Order: sequence, then C-alpha cells, then structure tokens
Amino acid sequence: MIYLNGKFLPIEQAYIPVLDRGFIFGDGVYEVIPVYSRKPFRLTDHLSRLQHSLDGIRLKNPHSDEQWRELLEQVIACNEGEDQYLYLHITRGVAKRDHAFPVGISPTIFIMSNPLPAPPPEMLQKGIPAITARDNRWGRCDIKAISLLPNVLLRQLAIDSGAMETILLRDGYLTEGAASNIFIVKNHVLLTPPKSHLMLPGITYDVVLELAQGHAIPYEIRAVSEQEIRLADEILLTSSTKEVMPIVSLDGKPVGTGEPGPIYKQLSQCYQQYKASIMRGQN
Ligand code: PDD
Repeated sequence: MIYLNGKFLPIEQAYIPVLDRGFIFGDGVYEVIPVYSRKPFRLTDHLSRLQHSLDGIRLKNPHSDEQWRELLEQVIACNEGEDQYLYLHITRGVAKRDHAFPVGISPTIFIMSNPLPAPPPEMLQKGIPAITARDNRWGRCDIKAISLLPNVLLRQLAIDSGAMETILLRDGYLTEGAASNIFIVKNHVLLTPPKSHLMLPGITYDVVLELAQGHAIPYEIRAVSEQEIRLADEILLTSSTKEVMPIVSLDGKPVGTGEPGPIYKQLSQCYQQYKASIMRGQN
C-alpha cells in the first residue's frame, strides 16, 4: 500500500495527472528513510533535511513533523517486512504548464515503502569498483531534488564500464558519489569533504563520522583533492541503502592494496554493531 494525497491505495491504483509539475519540470523534492525493525532511523534528521530541501525550492511544508511521523508510521504498518525503506516525494502540484510558480494549488504528496535488504555480503567483504567523472550538476546539490537526471547519467557511466558508483570531482576536488557520500583514508586518517551546497548532507555520512569519533578513528573534514583520491589507501561509500561499502578499484586501478582496508573493516564492524543495537532500538 502506498500513500497518495490523503489516501492509502495499492500502488497499481495510484495515478497522478500528467500536468503534475514533478512530471513536467522535476519540480519537487524527496527523502529516502531506512526503517529497521519497523522503526524509522533518524527520522528527526530526515525530516529536517526534508525541510531544508523544501525551503531550497520555496515550497511550504504541507505537514508538521508530528503529522509526517504519523503518516510514515501508517505506511510502515500497512507494508510487510521488518526492514523497509520509505520513499517520500513532494511536488509543487498540478497546474497548466508555466515555469513560474502557480498560485493556489496543493502539493502532490506520495509515500511508498519497499523492503530494505541488507547490502550483499559479497560486496561488503570484497568491495566494489568505481569510476570518476566531472561533477556537472547544478550548484544546489544539498537539495534532495527529484530532478536527478545528472545523477542518473553519471551513475550509468559507472554501470556502462562495469563499475558500481561514480565518484564526482568538481574543479579538482571530491564532492560525493552519484548516489552516495564518499570518504577516503590516507595514512590511517579518514577524510571527507565538509557539507556544502555541492553535496547532499548524508545521514549515513553523519553516522560514520560519529562512529569514527566514538571509536577513536582519526578523521578530518576538509576538501579532498583528486590527487588524494587517486593515492588513497582506502575509499568508502556511504548511503542509507548501501550502508558503508569499500571501493577497491578506481578507474580500473586498485585502491591501496586492492582489497578492503583496516579502517573500512573497523568502521564496518562498528556500523553493524550500531545497526543491531541502536538502529533497531530507537525511534
Ligand atoms: N541517495 N549523495 C547523494 C547524491 C545521494 O543520492 C545519497 C543517497 C547520499 C547519501 O545520503 P544518505 O546517507 O542520507 O542516504 C549522498 C538515496 C539513498 C537515493 O536517492 O536512493
């Protein structure tokens, strides 16, 4: 069952008008919220990122956090599975096609939930290949906008070359992955760029930095150059659905030893412990 504009329906019965501005202009924002043991993880953070995205596109939040919580609980309750991922999507609504904001219309609100399988153990143990590409997206990548065409094209570059993620470089510096945040390790120090308009402020990014802090893994939040990525001892990717994953080859060349490194192994263990206890226990 999905939620669309006040109704719960089977997905096959959910339709939106072709003049929806999400369809016509990609004029909307979204969130992906992991649910463990039927409890949304870091919902407060996801809702505040949603507010940030809505502010970024000048769309009034149609609900209070309390209303969102209730709606999301209802969607979780009418879907099967202990672990799910919620997809929440808000567009500016339906109006005659005109770039300027229409007046007096209601936003379209869509929520669905899908099963959230743990990432394949093979990928977590052996790592995945990635490529690099120039980050040719707009200057507000901190908005979780539904208009994902650049991310789609950039990610497809990886798939086309047999890799799994595209690491994006803007003016010679790391921004993020096409659908993930990126960390590198050099001389036992975890490095990642600071949050800015040029990357999505990942919730998993926060979790990894907290785990590093809590387990005495040295880290620095600072600009990371292309050269540093190419000479990194380890590269890691993070996202709500992929958790923390090691990248073991970059543009066809091995990263470090070409195998998941010690900092990844430590962080991954911390992450799995955290997932089993805190993520499954909190709301
Ligand atoms: N994407 N950067 C980009 C461009 C992303 O699309 C994502 C996640 C992240 C990681 O954010 P978080 O840790 O909050 O999941 C970073 C989601 C999973 C998606 O679009 O499906």
